[in-house]
Amino acid sequence: MLTFDRLTKRFGPNTAVDAVTLEFPEPGMIGIIGASGAGKSTLLRMVNRLSDATAGTIAFEGRDVTHLQGAAKRAWQAQCAMIFQQFNLVPRMDVVSNVLHGTLNRRSTLATMFNLYPQSDIHRAIEILDRLGIASQAPKRAEALSGGQQQRVAIARALMQDPKIILADEPIASLDPMNAQIVMDALRRIHDEDGRMVIANLHTLDTARRYCDRVIGMRQGRVVFDGTPEQLTTGVARDIYGADASFSEAATSTSIDALDAPARARALRDAEAVI
Ligand SMILES: Nc1ncnc2c1ncn2[C@@H]1O[C@H](COP(=O)(O)OP(=O)(O)O)[C@@H](O)[C@H]1O
Ligand SMILES: [Mg+2]
Repeated sequence: MLTFDRLTKRFGPNTAVDAVTLEFPEPGMIGIIGASGAGKSTLLRMVNRLSDATAGTIAFEGRDVTHLQGAAKRAWQAQCAMIFQQFNLVPRMDVVSNVLHGTLNRRSTLATMFNLYPQSDIHRAIEILDRLGIASQAPKRAEALSGGQQQRVAIARALMQDPKIILADEPIASLDPMNAQIVMDALRRIHDEDGRMVIANLHTLDTARRYCDRVIGMRQGRVVFDGTPEQLTTGVARDIYGADASFSEAATSTSIDALDAPARARALRDAEAVI
């Protein structure tokens, strides 16, 4: 389905992604882990064509998408919607309009200027928000929502494009544990129910283990692990993160169980909406 062949990105003398070759034969739920600077974001950005590869190729369903330009590039970008750690919503704009932005790729400039969205698109946006448990937030400004809600708006915006792939760059790194769980549950459900491929860069091991079918470990731009959550032992994790003997899983954990009682109560209070 999706393949990378010796995919490489260099920034001057620094090789951020170093000849990565991977095959994703089916639309799985994939987690990418690795220390800060390992090349995870650069890899996802190349897939979405936010960043151009220095060498190597990306192919989707047999078609080389590495060098697409213009309308073909925009069509590809709509097929692999991206979600970011900081949500990247328009803060002062209402939630529905933020979601409708997901249709920008296929609307005329004139319609966009006058904010003319077809009724059918508006209905679909509300349906998607409803599916994510936040339809009641639709008229509010994005900035009025909690982080977990904003990330779900970003997921809704991505779904509006009806993408085949969702690329999520540390989607829960800015969220408290409870909201992190709600957002990961939403991504997993979108994968299970819609059959969409999800590739998520994750900063914690336990999240990768719990939610993903396949985990890829990166270190210094290279793939150093590719396996199942069961194969991702503490020893393997230590290799991926390049940590010494003092490496502790707790340092890369968002587990709600790891929280003390007051912190857990705060997290629960903050997570007002449930899918
Ligand atoms: N736009 C850029 N210009 C220069 N260097 C960059 C740029 N983006 C990333 N890098 C470098 O590429 C390497 C990989 O970065 P990144 O993909 O952000 O890693 P990760 O997401 O795993 O933390 C790092 O050394 C980083 O400094
Ligand atoms: Mg990153």
